[in-house]
Amino acid sequence: MTEQQKEIYRQVTKWFHEARNRILEGRARGLDVQNKTSRLDLVTNIDKEIERFFREKINENFSDSAILGEEGNKADFKSSKGLFWVIDPIDGTMNFVKQAADFASMIAIYQDQKPLLGFIYDVIHDRLYWGGPGIGVYCNKEQLPAPKNIQLKDGLLGVNGPMMLTNYHNLQEVIRKSAGARIYGSAGIEFIHVLTGQCVGYLSHLRPWDYAAGSILAESLNLSVKTIDGKLLDVVSSEDVLVATKNAYIEISALMSAK
Ligand code: IPD
Ligand code: CA
Ligand code: CA
Ligand code: CA
Repeated sequence: MTEQQKEIYRQVTKWFHEARNRILEGRARGLDVQNKTSRLDLVTNIDKEIERFFREKINENFSDSAILGEEGNKADFKSSKGLFWVIDPIDGTMNFVKQAADFASMIAIYQDQKPLLGFIYDVIHDRLYWGGPGIGVYCNKEQLPAPKNIQLKDGLLGVNGPMMLTNYHNLQEVIRKSAGARIYGSAGIEFIHVLTGQCVGYLSHLRPWDYAAGSILAESLNLSVKTIDGKLLDVVSSEDVLVATKNAYIEISALMSAK
């Protein structure tokens, strides 16, 4: 780990632990829940508070940074120089509101547009998945082994509910060829299942803050993470993202390109 990665890791882990207290206390006090674009797209006072909190910490400690966050200003990745931070303060807001479980908090960091560190925090279980190029991936202090390169038929596949219902690009056939579909409702939690080898892959239409941290971690474990038609993720676009073992990626992408 470089000195820069060490310093960022040291700071960011502290922020996540403070964010956890704020999230749990805030939820216990009672949430202010609003519809963003529809009744299925929610935002709470805590989503906004946690993003503000991360932004303050970044600006205090790493002053020349640019920040792209779901609930705030959206800096442009393509023209960025130096440190670039991508924040999803609460990923899986619907789960946060309805279940108080299966949600995550995520930060991805790039230096001169190159991946530096990714963090997915499973808040309820207090498990921080973090890592980056040259580091591998850890859950808290324990290093994760790279998942076995299993085939689609041998693993569970995380999917997006609406895509499954509409049979998006032949998705139902992909699911039939797998060991079964799972829908967890948080991109961060879905990525964790693939990183730990509990799922063979995950497929969803995602925005940059949904996939930035997960894709840095997935690449560090030698998984394939691209659009379903093989394009690299650019941290700018909303994409149909597929993260999977190398074998399963090839199978799924071929099945979905057929339609
Ligand atoms: C959402 C979750 C969900 C995914 C949506 C995302 P949010 O994030 O990750 O699993 O299907 O596309 O928008 O809005 O709760 O941060
Ligand atoms: Ca949202
Ligand atoms: Ca999200
Ligand atoms: Ca969010």
